[in-house]
Amino acid sequence: DLNVIWMLLIGYLLGSIPSGIWIGKAFFGKDIREYGSGNMGTTNTFRVLGKTAGSVVLLIDMLKGSATALLPLLFHSDANALLIGIAAIIGHAFPVFANFKGGKTVATSVGVLLIYNWQFFLLAWAIFLITIYLTSMVSVASMLGFTLITISSLFYQDWILTTVALVLTIFVFIRHWGNVSRIRQGQENMVPFGLGYRR
Ligand code: G3P
Repeated sequence: DLNVIWMLLIGYLLGSIPSGIWIGKAFFGKDIREYGSGNMGTTNTFRVLGKTAGSVVLLIDMLKGSATALLPLLFHSDANALLIGIAAIIGHAFPVFANFKGGKTVATSVGVLLIYNWQFFLLAWAIFLITIYLTSMVSVASMLGFTLITISSLFYQDWILTTVALVLTIFVFIRHWGNVSRIRQGQENMVPFGLGYRR
């Protein structure tokens, strides 16, 4: 189906938009990859550029996923929104506009989830926010969030969601390997609130 090729291509290009890098360079004269965790995602944008820029990057990165997952609707195609959405996640992880060195895929995946299954979207956010409150570490929330979404999807008997969530979880852990070693050394960056935070 030619439509599927187009949807995957558009999704990949949308996902490739490195919002954090571009906003940092355009409005702050800073490449966020040279500060904080060195990541180009929402968390590091909040950390380096502040709340407004962080919120905008979160919104854009989620939108990349949501818009891609909506492409089947636009193309009058019965392709699965979740499977098409993966194109944006791959784009975010390996962006053509940033030397193929991208982010950790959390926000973009959550954006796809919103279109595919909004209940799981809410579940993901709930797990995520509770974990940030308990640990003050976004990385822990990301890894736990993906893991628990995979496990909860088993009760739904949605095998496409379970398979995709499992693959994404493995990828998220790989991308967070630096975070895992910082956590083990007690050196992980913390958000300035929640129970884990010590000033
Ligand atoms: O958004 C990714 C998050 O889980 C970790 O980001 O910058 O703390 O490595 P960071």
